[in-house]
Amino acid sequence: MSHPSPVRTICCIGAGYVGGPTMAVIADRCPEIQVTVVDLNAERIAAWNDPDLSRLPVYEPGLDAVVGRCRGRNLHFSTAVEPAIAAADLVFLSVNTPTKTKGVGAGQASDLRWIEASARQVAACSQGHTIVVEKSTLPVRTAETVQAILTAAQGEGAPGDGSTPGKSFSVLSNPEFLAEGTAIADLENPDRVLIGGEDPVAIEALADIYAHWVAPEQILRTNLWSSELSKLTANAFLAQRISSINSIAAFCEATGADVQEVARAIGTDSRIGPKFLKAGPGFGGSCFQKDILNLVYLCGHYGLHEVAAYWQSVVDLNSWQQHRIARLVVRRLFGTVTGKRLAVLGFAFKADTNDTREAPAIRICRDLLEEGAQLAIYDPKVCAAQIARDLGQAELPAEASERQALSGEGSWRAASSAFEAGAAADAALILTEWGEFAQLDWQALAAGMRQPAWVFDARAVADAAAVRAAGLQLWRVGEG
Ligand code: NAD
Ligand code: UDX
Repeated sequence: MSHPSPVRTICCIGAGYVGGPTMAVIADRCPEIQVTVVDLNAERIAAWNDPDLSRLPVYEPGLDAVVGRCRGRNLHFSTAVEPAIAAADLVFLSVNTPTKTKGVGAGQASDLRWIEASARQVAACSQGHTIVVEKSTLPVRTAETVQAILTAAQGEGAPGDGSTPGKSFSVLSNPEFLAEGTAIADLENPDRVLIGGEDPVAIEALADIYAHWVAPEQILRTNLWSSELSKLTANAFLAQRISSINSIAAFCEATGADVQEVARAIGTDSRIGPKFLKAGPGFGGSCFQKDILNLVYLCGHYGLHEVAAYWQSVVDLNSWQQHRIARLVVRRLFGTVTGKRLAVLGFAFKADTNDTREAPAIRICRDLLEEGAQLAIYDPKVCAAQIARDLGQAELPAEASERQALSGEGSWRAASSAFEAGAAADAALILTEWGEFAQLDWQALAAGMRQPAWVFDARAVADAAAVRAAGLQLWRVGEG
C-alpha cells in the first residue's frame, strides 16, 4: 500500500525499546522518509550502529532483519540531537517516563523530566513548522506542558524580512501499544494506531505515515486527552486481568481446581476472550506498574480516592503474588533454603526479550537471597552484569559461594545453561516462559540435582508428565 505523505524527515528522541523498533518499522515501510533516531546515551547509539546485528541493544525477534534492511539507507542512529531535530518535519518524543523516586508524588507519579528536556530541545533546535508527537506514555494532559514549552519558542527564527516563516508546532499524542518480545509483529500488524490531536492537517500527516501499511479503519483519531488516557487505561485493564487470574490461581491451589482449566473455560466466553489469562509469577516490565501507579496518582489528584484504591489493589495483588511464590518455595523445601542451591531458570520479565525492568524474578530472587539461598541463574538473553545491577549484589564465584553458604548469607552466580544451573540444586524455579524450558530433558537435569528435588514452575510451561517421570516433585502455579 503506497500513500503520499508530506513528512519527508523524522527525528525520534529516545533510542530505547520503543524508539528503536518503532522507527525501524516506519523506515522499513516508508522508504521515501529519512528517519533519524537520537539518544544522549552514546553507548546505546553505538550498539544500534554495531555491524554485528546480533548485538543491537534491544533483543526482539525479527528486529535484526528490519534494521539490516534500512540502516544506512533511510534509518540512522546518532547522538547528534540538534541537527536531527533541525532537519525534521516530525519529531517523536520517545523518552523514558519512569515513576518518580523523590519529591512530590514519589513512588506514584511519572517523572517527566526527560519529556520536558526533549520538548525544550525541540523548541530550541527546530526550524519552520514541526509536528511534535508524544510517543512516550504520559499522564493525561501532558500535551498541555509540551505545548506551553513549544509556544514560548513560536515565531523564533524568522528573518527580519519575513521571507521564511518562523518556528511553529502542532502537538499530537500517538501512544505505542507494542509489547516486548512481539514488538516487530505488533508494529507491523497493530490492532490499532491511535492519534490524538487538535490540528487536522498534522493528524492526517501522521496518519499518512501509518497508512503505508495499516488499514484506514485501524487508524483511530481522538482528542489529545482521550489519546493520552487510553494508553494508561489499556495498560491498567491488561494488568488487571493478570492480577485477577493470579488471584484465582492462588484460590485454585487452595481448592484443588486448576487455573489453566478455569482460564480455558472462562476464556471461551466471547465477552471475556482467551488472551491475557495466563497465571504466573506476577506481571513485570517497565510499563504496567508504572502506568497504574500514575493512574492512581492522577485519580488521587482529582479527589477520586475510591478509584485510586481500586487500581492500587491491582499492583498490591501483583506484589503479593511475587512474595507468595518465594514463600512457598521456602515452605516446600522443609522450611529453609539457607545454604541450599536453587536453579533459577529465566530472569527476563517475559520470554523473547532481554529486558529485566520490574521482572518478577528480581523480587523472588531477592526474597530467596534474604533467606540465605545460593542461586544459579540462567537466562538465554540476560547478561550477568544486568542481574547484578537488578539484585544489587555482585556475582560470587563458585568457591566463594561455598564459604558464603556456610555463613548463611545468600549469594548468586550466573549459569550458562539450565543444566549448569541445576547441578547439585535442591530445586529449579521457572520464572520466565522461554521456549527452551518447555523442551527440557528433565531426566538429565534430575540426574544432577540433589534428591529429593523440586521443580517450581511459576509459568506452567514445563512438561508436567516428564518432570514427574524424572522423579522430581512439581509445584505448578494455579494447580491445586
Ligand atoms: P527506554 O528507557 O528504553 O528508552 C528511552 C531512551 O530515551 C533512553 O535511551 C534515554 O537515554 C533516552 N533519552 C531520555 N532523554 C533524552 C533526551 N533529552 N535526548 C535524547 N535521548 C533521551 O524507554 P522505553 O522502554 O523505550 O520507553 C519509552 C516510553 O515509551 C516510555 O514512556 C514508556 O512508558 C513507553 N512505552 C514503552 C513500552 C515498552 O514496551 N517498553 C511500550 C509502550 C510504551
Ligand atoms: C505491555 C502491554 O501489553 C503493551 O500493550 C504496552 O505497550 C506495554 O506494556 P509488555 O509489558 O512489553 O507490554 O508485555 P506484556 O506481554 O503485556 O507482559 C507484561 C507482563 O505480564 C509480563 O511479565 C508477562 O509475563 C505478564 N503476563 C502477560 C502474564 O503474567 N500473563 C499473561 O497472560 C500475559
